Amino acid sequence: MTTTVAWWESKCTQLLKVGNQSSPCFVYDIPCLQETIQRIKTLQSADRAFYAMKACYNPEVLKAIYNSGLGFECVSPGELYEIHRLFPEIEADQILFTPNFVPKEEYILGYELASHVTVGNVRVLELWSDVFKQRDVILRIDPGHGRGHHKHVRTAGSASKFGIAPESLPLVQEICDLYDIRITGLHAHVGSGILTPDTWSSTAYALASIAEMFPYTTHLNVGGGFGVPEKPGSSPLDLHVLEESLQQFRKIHPQFELWIEPGRYLVAESGVLLTRVTQIKYKGDRCYIGVETGMNSLIRPALYGSNHRIFNLSSLHSPLNITADIVGPICETGDIIGHACQLPETSEGDFLLIATAGAYGRVMSSNYNMREPACEVVL
Ligand code: LLP
Repeated sequence: MTTTVAWWESKCTQLLKVGNQSSPCFVYDIPCLQETIQRIKTLQSADRAFYAMKACYNPEVLKAIYNSGLGFECVSPGELYEIHRLFPEIEADQILFTPNFVPKEEYILGYELASHVTVGNVRVLELWSDVFKQRDVILRIDPGHGRGHHKHVRTAGSASKFGIAPESLPLVQEICDLYDIRITGLHAHVGSGILTPDTWSSTAYALASIAEMFPYTTHLNVGGGFGVPEKPGSSPLDLHVLEESLQQFRKIHPQFELWIEPGRYLVAESGVLLTRVTQIKYKGDRCYIGVETGMNSLIRPALYGSNHRIFNLSSLHSPLNITADIVGPICETGDIIGHACQLPETSEGDFLLIATAGAYGRVMSSNYNMREPACEVVL
């Protein structure tokens, strides 16, 4: 049983109260988040962890992460400014900026607000050499094979826009020599929602072989992508095996620091989406259960076919005797939050809980159909 089930099951009464006041809403449980942060911190092999804040930037969530001592991985000026607004005393060394296909001004800003700036395109090093000259740069490499829960989130290989292909690296060397640019780190993030624990050590070996070309390399950033189980019966990422594989790498390459950028893993299970049942409809051989909010709050099922387990919080322990599609009020057939979900007898007014919604939930929501997405409540 996952941590998510544990925290919200024991807070069912409190959640029903929250639902009555604020539904539809994302609810985040800070104790669960703190527990997950501690789990990531058991990875002794990772010298530094930067939270990929794109996964969830609720201020209370960010505060809990900041207080735990993790750094932040930012991808836009908005994210950089938000971190400085919330934590004015933060050291720039705690911020890693990993933009892609952005204009020159964003790199300039990156060097003002973050210590670590990642570049994933050889062309910009030359085109905007005035920005990178005599500076430390982290290179984002495309190690060739993407992984992840859906093709949209596999961020390596020829079908992906990210990273510098190994064949371009001799040119990078030339440009760096010409403009006195120091490559101090190598980065690769191969994808998101990965449950195979050897992924990050494979990335580390790939980067280590490239580091021979860049003698100032002190760290290898093996990215984020640490998955959480979504489907019933799927196993969690085995952190122990992951740790062993990275420790093995460190034995062979002790000269490098290892950095990671977890997003989803830290926040997914600490967040749920609560929404009230509006209408129930039987049509053909299907049962549709309508809820107050749909793809405008949680687009992952429509965009990636993602699975979020769904429970009837109003009758949590009743037998599961109906099979239904859970749909929102958005005018699209794709507005489905759950396909063929097993639920107990359900009535209008019941609260449904959509699990594992803390990552890429609220941050990807929209006002489509001029409907406000679910708000956020922090426990
Ligand atoms: N580092 C970089 C450079 C990234 O691009 C990402 C995510 C991360 C770290 C964090 O990845 P995570 O640990 O969260 O998997 N919206 C999609 C996920 C997109 C991930 C984008 N990049 C989803 O809902 O599954």
